[in-house]
Amino acid sequence: MTQPRIIEADAAGVSNADICAFYATHWARPIALSRPDFLHWQMNAAPGAKGSNHSVVALEGDRIIAVMGVTPATFRHLRQDCAGAELTTWVVAPDARGKGVGKAILQHLQGRYAILTGAGITGAALPLYLGAGFTHLAQMPRFFFIADFAKAQAFANIPDPAQAVTARRQSQAVPQLWRAVAVPAAALAPAAASLSPCGHFRRDAARLAWRHDSHAAFRYEAFTVRDPGQTGNGSGVVLREDTVQQTPILHVIDLFGPPRHLRAALAFIEDEARRRGAAFVDISLTAGPLIAHLRARGWSSAVDDPLIELPSLFYPVELRRPPTTSLILWGGDTQQRLYDFSRLHITRADMDLDRPTLAWYDQHPT
Ligand SMILES: CC(C)(COP(=O)(O)OP(=O)(O)OC[C@H]1O[C@@H](n2cnc3c(N)ncnc32)[C@H](O)[C@@H]1OP(=O)(O)O)[C@@H](O)C(=O)NCCC(=O)NCCS
Repeated sequence: MTQPRIIEADAAGVSNADICAFYATHWARPIALSRPDFLHWQMNAAPGAKGSNHSVVALEGDRIIAVMGVTPATFRHLRQDCAGAELTTWVVAPDARGKGVGKAILQHLQGRYAILTGAGITGAALPLYLGAGFTHLAQMPRFFFIADFAKAQAFANIPDPAQAVTARRQSQAVPQLWRAVAVPAAALAPAAASLSPCGHFRRDAARLAWRHDSHAAFRYEAFTVRDPGQTGNGSGVVLREDTVQQTPILHVIDLFGPPRHLRAALAFIEDEARRRGAAFVDISLTAGPLIAHLRARGWSSAVDDPLIELPSLFYPVELRRPPTTSLILWGGDTQQRLYDFSRLHITRADMDLDRPTLAWYDQHPT
């Protein structure tokens, strides 16, 4: 094999249609990135992409032999803006595997960005990431609050003792008043400013608008939530309601804000799940201080509290054990400060952690 060219898609003149076709042929499962509208939203429409597709391709002559999806995004770390990228859906054509192409793609990205992140790491990819100096979180923390145990039976076999313990834990949360206002997600930027000590993708108005207000498929709902007894900016909450197997469920896609308003945000989310008749509400996130709030309010960890197993995949419904996903992270020369996951704010609003499948599209024709 002659040495393949490793280059950004737009710089090589590779079209989005070519990338969609490559994914459709070589990715094991049907994925939304094989749709031009979705690929354009994720790659070109992101604010950091400035209209271009920065995915990295490997070319043998004119033939695409590999693609790594790349969405450039500013990452705030140690109070500085860093050139970050969200990586997704990395695939080398089967006949080109094991020849160093994947490794060359990672080297290219490490020369171009200061911080790289990705989720849902396969067994085939993990040795390459580890070999390239990435760190790996095998189980991203995920928590759920069951709002209706009878409805939750649609997704899990819940034995009576498990229900009793879980219901008791949830009922012991400190009562908390809240005031919530529905807003466009872009209006949450002031609440997101409180994230600065943690590492996170910068949640400015442009990113929030792209990610939530103009998503290619999903409809998100954003709220500012305040503890009425406190001053200052409230917290930001982004929710996505869904109906699966005729049962409403609620996903928390993002949650951030000053600590004094976070308890109100969680009380709002719990009340909102009950009000909407949802079976449960779930959240995935790394941020240690927020996780402490979730534990204190009796939410169940999908990883650590094994009494009830709720699936994490819904199109189709699938229970993976553990029912969560994995993350990789690389931080150039700031690794030690960056690799404290409890100080990172990574949620389902980041990377490809809340993406429709083609089965979702089939069930939601426009
Ligand atoms: C993962 C994938 C992209 C890797 O691409 P690739 O071009 O085959 O990888 P490379 O040839 O550059 O590198 C393979 C390296 O992994 C190493 N490796 C493979 N299995 C390993 C193992 N179990 N332990 C340690 N190292 C291992 C190889 O030794 C080689 O390293 P070397 O070049 O130093 O010898 C490719 O296998 C693929 O497309 N898989 C299917 C889709 C997928 O899983 N994508 C990842 C999504 S997160």
